[in-house]
Amino acid sequence: MRDAELIRTALKMRKKSYVPYSGFAVGAGLLAGSGEIYGGCNIENAAYTPTNCAERTAFFRAVSEGEREFSAIAIAGGPAGQEPADYCAPCGVCRQVMMEFCDPDTFQVILAKSETEYQVFTLRELLPCGFGPADLGLQKGQAGNKKNSQ
Ligand code: THU
Repeated sequence: MRDAELIRTALKMRKKSYVPYSGFAVGAGLLAGSGEIYGGCNIENAAYTPTNCAERTAFFRAVSEGEREFSAIAIAGGPAGQEPADYCAPCGVCRQVMMEFCDPDTFQVILAKSETEYQVFTLRELLPCGFGPADLGLQKGQAGNKKNSQ
């Protein structure tokens, strides 16, 4: 049920992707601690490197709304204008952003082709030996007691 709703959001968000360079449309649906689902799409740029992946768009939207806890993200991607034929796994940069805010042992990454065809991984499986806030003596997403964060 929850998985299907996140996947529906990911599939819907793909249609918002701005992908004039790759033609590869990715959507994400991120479940936050408040129960809210945040959607994200990839947004490309003529200078290429400023491109933002769908997953990071979803995370940054959510964090900018005050969310700090997350339990799962669904991701769907493939050539724009077609239903996804393959699973689309998050890039290394997006895995690292997940590591900042999520418990790697419980956060679930749902790779979806459709509402019924999908695979589920923990973040730990996708990013073994990841480096995160704990390595700097901080709690995930809660650097609030230090420096400038709240
Ligand atoms: N992309 C994502 O948005 N998420 C992924 O998981 C993989 C890659 C985007 C970046 C770029 O706009 C396009 O897909 C091709 O790499």
